[in-house]
Amino acid sequence: MKRYSITTLNEFIIQRQADFPYAKGELSRLLYHFVVAAKILHKKVNKAGLVDILGSAGQTNVQGEEQKKLDVFADEVFISALQASGEVCGLVTEENQEIITFDDNLSRDGKYIFMMDPLDGSSNIDVNVSIGTIFSIFRRVSPRGHSARPEDFLQEGSRMVAAGYVVYGSSTMLVYTTGHGVSGFTLDPSIGEFCLSHPDIKMPAYGTIYSINEGHYIKFPDGVKKFIKYCQENDPETNRPYTSRYIGSLVADFHRNLLKGGIFMYPQTATATTGKLRLAYECNPIAFIAEQAGGKASDGTQRILDLKPESVHQRTPFYTGSRAMVELLEEMISGA
Ligand code: AHG
Ligand code: MN
Ligand code: MN
Repeated sequence: MKRYSITTLNEFIIQRQADFPYAKGELSRLLYHFVVAAKILHKKVNKAGLVDILGSAGQTNVQGEEQKKLDVFADEVFISALQASGEVCGLVTEENQEIITFDDNLSRDGKYIFMMDPLDGSSNIDVNVSIGTIFSIFRRVSPRGHSARPEDFLQEGSRMVAAGYVVYGSSTMLVYTTGHGVSGFTLDPSIGEFCLSHPDIKMPAYGTIYSINEGHYIKFPDGVKKFIKYCQENDPETNRPYTSRYIGSLVADFHRNLLKGGIFMYPQTATATTGKLRLAYECNPIAFIAEQAGGKASDGTQRILDLKPESVHQRTPFYTGSRAMVELLEEMISGA
């Protein structure tokens, strides 16, 4: 019998592995290595104000060492950890234009590919505001034993095996799904373990928060403008006007809306016709989590997870959150 009440991430994974007899432990090993890197980044983020790691890459610190911007540091830590896992044959990160293939024998045999935004919300690093890491994991389509191929990285989001994010906020949390619901784990820094704190997260079907960079209002599509006006109207029956909340870190904005109910929007504009956010390592993983929590994610007309990527860094308009809110927005975009 268990004599203490916490469930660590590792215990949780072991329990869940027993639910899936076909699992050989590869994904668990992969996640284990990812989490070690996340803990290293947590430590670095928490020390960011104390040591001289803020600022731009390429600068030199007082010891004459070249400074690494936190997103470059994050990128390197995660890449090393994923290669060390031996379960990943290649990855795409926001920091690298080209696909990275791991060509050691172990990794070439790896079953998975990884796509990630190692540090999301970079503009918030220097001002002590929440930032994050976002990732998605796919089974490769190319044969094992060979280098990863471009087609491994161009699969629809609906083929994702697992996705998650880490939010480095007032506490550090991992939110994770393998397609059987969403679980949230909070890092207890005193024991260095992620502990199950939010089992089976469900997003409220309706919310009262809308999150968008409203400074760009003038450039938004008409349907989005109409929806923003709807959020601002006075109607006590439907709890309007809603509350506007925007951090500028997708992870943190989404995380708040996941728990409280709400909608996050990043539309296209006339000058940025595909929006800003990246399909592969920002929108897809968040969409998978949103759907697994009962929410919805759309590019305004189509389900995000149905989009067929043409390139690994492609952008898409992105609307995600409480199901009813995203559906109403889609209606307004379609002009209904
Ligand atoms: P990143 O720091 O990885 O480049 O991502 C920043 C993204 C996302 O986190 C956020 O939602 C959005 O950019 C904010 O953009 P605006 O400053 O245009 O609102
Ligand atoms: Mn980002
Ligand atoms: Mn980033």
